[in-house]
Amino acid sequence: MAKGKMTSVFFCQSCGFESAKWMGQCPACKAWNTMVEETVDRQTAKSATSGRRDQQAASEVCVLSEVTIREQDKVLTGIEELDRVLGGGIVQGSLTLVGGDPGIGKSTLLLQTCQKVAAAGHKVLYVSGEESQVQIKMRADRLGSFSGNVLLMCETSLDVISETIRKQKPEIVVIDSIQTMYSESVSSAPGSVSQVREATAALLQLAKGLLVSVFIVGHVTKEGTVAGPRVLEHMVDTVLYFEGDRHASYRILRSVKNRFGSTNEIGVFEMRGNGLEEVKNPSEYMLSGRPENASGSVVTCSMEGTRPLLIELQGLVCHSSFGIPRRQTTGTDLGRVNLLMAVLEKRSGVQLSGCDAYVNVTGGLKVNEPAIDLAIVMAIVSSFRNKALPAKMIAFGEVGLSGEIRAVSQAAQRAAEAAKLGFEVCLLPKSNLNDCRQEIAGKIRLIGVSTVMDALEYLNGN
Ligand code: TYD
Ligand code: MG
Repeated sequence: MAKGKMTSVFFCQSCGFESAKWMGQCPACKAWNTMVEETVDRQTAKSATSGRRDQQAASEVCVLSEVTIREQDKVLTGIEELDRVLGGGIVQGSLTLVGGDPGIGKSTLLLQTCQKVAAAGHKVLYVSGEESQVQIKMRADRLGSFSGNVLLMCETSLDVISETIRKQKPEIVVIDSIQTMYSESVSSAPGSVSQVREATAALLQLAKGLLVSVFIVGHVTKEGTVAGPRVLEHMVDTVLYFEGDRHASYRILRSVKNRFGSTNEIGVFEMRGNGLEEVKNPSEYMLSGRPENASGSVVTCSMEGTRPLLIELQGLVCHSSFGIPRRQTTGTDLGRVNLLMAVLEKRSGVQLSGCDAYVNVTGGLKVNEPAIDLAIVMAIVSSFRNKALPAKMIAFGEVGLSGEIRAVSQAAQRAAEAAKLGFEVCLLPKSNLNDCRQEIAGKIRLIGVSTVMDALEYLNGN
């Protein structure tokens, strides 16, 4: 291959920002120490893309309204939590990126997906660049039996992989992981930004050209030595992140980009000894182990995509022994908590300025929805007064700067979820009261509040 002009550039391994010189901090994503030098062959890069364009058949023009969608273009995985996050199954010819910390369970999830899809009669190819056949077999043994439709390949060369895909014609391909793959046409090391991008571009061509659905695993790395999945987000159809607390056994699969379905959809799984198990009722799961009659604990409802999820919020307020009180949050926004404490102090006279405050979303979830404001306020007040809230109560609502409680979206769905799990009282914005009443009459007692003062008054009476 004729080498073109080799140039040396610096890439941010976190976001893919390109620069001619080295910098300590990436100006795009503000990460420190992530710029790494790579040599790129400008000439080859150009000819590679133009060559690819030549291979494509001349695109035909069609009438949009006459394009038909067939249901069989989607393959159901049989794992409901995954199907929903994907937008109703695996779309033919789609490229899906599954990102997550090392060890979170990406390989397990995809191997289980292969198992299910293959059992339904589809041919799948699992390519691993990280583990040996024996290691994969050992994992597979924990997951149960596999049908003959699952092909396995331990390979890191993209050219060999493409060749195999063309020959074997699988319907679904898993590439585990993109950071171990390399293409001959790029000179830099596997895992570098240019390699990872080139490999993804090649897989994209394969996916669209041969109509195979490709899953790419991408590790999220703390150090800047390996390019993270964010570098690829713009190239793929769907981006899923697999997250969870290392210490807890549940895992959340979250879609952050989806060309075929809604984003912010989540799927909840539990890691067991024999693979990942779906958690069909996550609210119940999140609330398990909640203390009864403890001050500072309150249940609220957050919408994760189209799905209401009950979560427990905990507040701890105590006298500060330092000049500047300490405020700390886990799983929610610190700035928001500071703001709500200021609102409480100013609008309802709760003296919090000399207090340390800690707010915690239990179970390792991250919630930044303003609808949990009212619950944060209640948790703080409950802990400040050292008085437990009614055990069968949930609260949600957005708090404004003048202490007003503002309406939230999908209030009826949130209240219905609470009613389903046996909650008896629901504290909600007054402006949401009417539409809620119509939808869930009689299932749960609805208390509309229009200001923070109203809410505190209700608590005083209980
Ligand atoms: P893995 O899928 O290898 O993670 P990733 O590909 O994201 O790096 O999963 C690793 C963890 O999952 C490992 O710590 C072991 C655990 N695990 C179970 O608890 N049960 C199981 O059945 C399997 C297969 C793995
Ligand atoms: Mg893995």
